[in-house]
Order: sequence, then structure tokens, then C-alpha cells
Amino acid sequence: MSEILKTIQERQSARVSYDASRQVHKEDLLKILEAAKWTPTAHNMQNFDIIVVDDKAVLDKIGNIKSRISEEFLRENYEQLSFSKEELLRKKTGILGSMFPPEWVDPAKISEAVKKATPMPLTQSIRGSPTLLIVVYDSRKRAPASHGDVLGFISLGCLMENMWLMAQSLGIGLHILSAFSAPSVEMEIKKLLGVPDYLKIAYTCRLGYPTGASKYLRVRRDIEDFTHYNKFGNRGI
Ligand SMILES: Cc1cc2nc3c(=O)[nH]c(=O)nc-3n(C[C@H](O)[C@H](O)[C@H](O)COP(=O)(O)O)c2cc1C
Repeated sequence: MSEILKTIQERQSARVSYDASRQVHKEDLLKILEAAKWTPTAHNMQNFDIIVVDDKAVLDKIGNIKSRISEEFLRENYEQLSFSKEELLRKKTGILGSMFPPEWVDPAKISEAVKKATPMPLTQSIRGSPTLLIVVYDSRKRAPASHGDVLGFISLGCLMENMWLMAQSLGIGLHILSAFSAPSVEMEIKKLLGVPDYLKIAYTCRLGYPTGASKYLRVRRDIEDFTHYNKFGNRGI
């Protein structure tokens, strides 16, 4: 198998605690940022800035910011869930409901769960990560003639993948945290880090060395499930 395909297949969301005492070395961080630098972006607009946070005092302050689960998230999350390994293997998309507290995955209990939920400090999401990469973009700009800036968002995704593959190849765990973009959390982080108003947080990568293996079932559709040969609907290649 080619090296690049192996790295692509082995990359995964390292949704486990990281060793807080093991720093990501500057030289490795620079390689991840070099991969970021060479990201393809629409019109080469390079529509991102990355805030590297590895100062323990700043990490602690971020960790104290509280996030609240939203009903919108829970309802839309539910649509992507499977409730057994067999169901997930059959569907080949989505994730297992067992990754979430039981009251989050029962549609009849979601409204109540949201009302009762206590705000959680981000430290529970950061889980020992010694380095965060907070990716921000200029929400006033857009790729030329790209409605809703879809090309700009795709570009931010390319950035994510470039950094993720580089981290993977260096043996560094990476986990995407979308929670930093939730309006109330974003506001507090921007204030703390002095981020100008016109920038928005796209996502945060938590980096580090996992303390254990990420044990969850990863599924993908087969090539013939998403490939159409010369005409939509013609399967097989
Ligand atoms: C744009 C984007 C946002 C994501 N946000 C989160 C997130 O907030 N929390 C999380 O645990 N995973 C997040 N993920 C990771 C996906 O859930 C994950 O890539 C997918 O389930 C496939 O699993 P794998 O990364 O292990 O292959 C995100 C991924 C992408 C591309």
C-alpha cells in the first residue's frame, strides 16, 4: 500500500485523554504548520489564521470556559446515530449512540436533557491536550462568486486534513472540537485570546499523545456505494 494511502486510512479521531505532561515539540508543530501552509484554498485565498495555544495558564483559562449542549445539536446528532454495531456496519455512515450519555440519544428525553444539563467546562473536551490549534477565518470575505462561501469552507476543510495527516504521520493524536465555535464559547475564547471581531472560529484541533487507544468502530461506505461510472446510477468501475 502506498505510504500516503496508509496514512489516510490510519488517521482517526483520537477521542481519548492525552498525556498532559508530554509536550508537542516545536519542530513537530512546525511540520504541522508547514502542512497548513501548503493547503489548497479556493483562489489561493488562504482564508485562515491559526492560534497555537500551548501556554498552560492560557489552556487552563480556556478549560474554565463553559459550554452548553444545544437541542439543535442533540436532535440532528440523533439522526446520525446507530444503536448497535450491526446497525452501524449495515448503514456504513454515522457513529454509535453509545458514544453519548443515554439521555442525549433518546428523542423523547432530549428537551428535558437540555433543560437539566449543567454547563460543562471545556477542560472536559480538552482532556489533557498540551496544544490547541484554533483555526479562525475572516467571515467578511468569500471566494469569488461562491454563494454562502462554500468554497471558503471547503478550503478550511482542506486545511484540517493537511494538518491531520501530518499529525498522523508524526504519531501525534488529533481530535477536532467544533464546540469552540458555539456562539457563547466563541465569544469568550475570542475575548481571552484577543481575536478581532471580524474573525470566526472554524474549529479547534486538540493535539497530543493519547494515553490509550481510541476504541470505536469506524465505518465507511464502499467505493461502489458512492461512485457512478460515466452516468449517475451506473455502479462499479
Ligand atoms: C468539519 C468536521 C467537524 C468535526 N467536529 C467534531 C467534533 O466536534 N467532535 C468530534 O469528536 N469529532 C468531530 N469531527 C470528527 C468526525 O466525527 C470524524 O472524522 C468522523 O466521525 C470519522 O471518524 P474518524 O475521524 O475516526 O475517521 C469532525 C470532523 C469534521 C470533518
